[in-house]
Amino acid sequence: MKKIILTGDRPTGRLHVGHYVGSLRRRVELQDSGEYDKIFIMIADAQALTDNADHPEKVRQNIMEVALDYLSAGLDPDKSTIFIQSMVSELTELTFYYSNLVTVSRLQRNPTVKAEIAMRNFEASIPVGFFTYPISQAADITAFKATTVPVGEDQMPMLEQCREIVHKFNSVYGEALVMPNILLPDNKACLRLPGIDGKAKMSKSLGNCIYLSDTEQDVKKKVMSMFTDPNHLRVEDPGRTEGNPVFIYLEAFSRPEHFAQFWPEYAGLDELKAHYERGGLGDVKVKKFLNKVLQAELAPIRARRKEWEQRLPEVYEILKKGSMEAQAIAAETLKDVKAAMKINYFDDEAILRM
Ligand code: TRP
Repeated sequence: MKKIILTGDRPTGRLHVGHYVGSLRRRVELQDSGEYDKIFIMIADAQALTDNADHPEKVRQNIMEVALDYLSAGLDPDKSTIFIQSMVSELTELTFYYSNLVTVSRLQRNPTVKAEIAMRNFEASIPVGFFTYPISQAADITAFKATTVPVGEDQMPMLEQCREIVHKFNSVYGEALVMPNILLPDNKACLRLPGIDGKAKMSKSLGNCIYLSDTEQDVKKKVMSMFTDPNHLRVEDPGRTEGNPVFIYLEAFSRPEHFAQFWPEYAGLDELKAHYERGGLGDVKVKKFLNKVLQAELAPIRARRKEWEQRLPEVYEILKKGSMEAQAIAAETLKDVKAAMKINYFDDEAILRM
């Protein structure tokens, strides 16, 4: 069986370092591993509209931002197909048929949907499209016969729901859909990177993000203002590294060569942590090191962004070509789905035999 990746992001803002360690960095590695037959990266504008119906311009503005983030992070349009969800209308048709296989109570139990409803204060006024977006996400995944979906931990319930739909479809109509597997980051710190304020999640609305497109000065300012262990008041005090955002970021970003290059006094993160926990190591020093690590990781991304920003017509062509290719593939799957459901009336004249 072919190995196929599908994943994507809602274009509601520029991508931040949480997106990067949670999924984007991995995608680039998977792309460059050469182990996959096809890679589809989707800008999920239709999904973004499920809770931004009143702000279509916000979604529209961020299409190019997200595309630039992708390209600058190292996604290569010659190896990965980057496309826009709403340009593939087959996805909505698949969603319509899949919605017959899902119950309202099952959607209500989806932990991601639950959390998002609470976060947006939707309560009794949940848009139907938002409530059912897990079904549309199953359409996104299955339309491309994806075997592998690299995402952050928050997407786990979406994948479970998708797998249930695939199972149900295949048992009712016959094996037409491919069962996808989730691929989570293997580093625990990358599963859910906290915001610079220490809040559980990096999110645009909380204003606690470091963006991939932030300038060197912005990144430095944000790192130096980061929340750490509130009880680590004096340098001599013992500090906590667990749950400390500065150390979580170091877990997610630092590599042995960063120590060799920027802080050779320490062999690696474990030694640094031990010193902080013992006491005698100030936050400013650790933050300065984190800043160097982050700058080393982000500088090439920033440089590539500068280049792509000069080539916007090319980005437009990449998205257009990618969307056309994606549309052709989704159309094939829709054809298989309709045949399995026996609603392919005009494929032959079998319907004449009453
Ligand atoms: N829900 C994802 C997010 O919020 C975006 C998304 C839409 C997606 N369809 C997908 C991710 C299919 C993986 C697979 O970022």
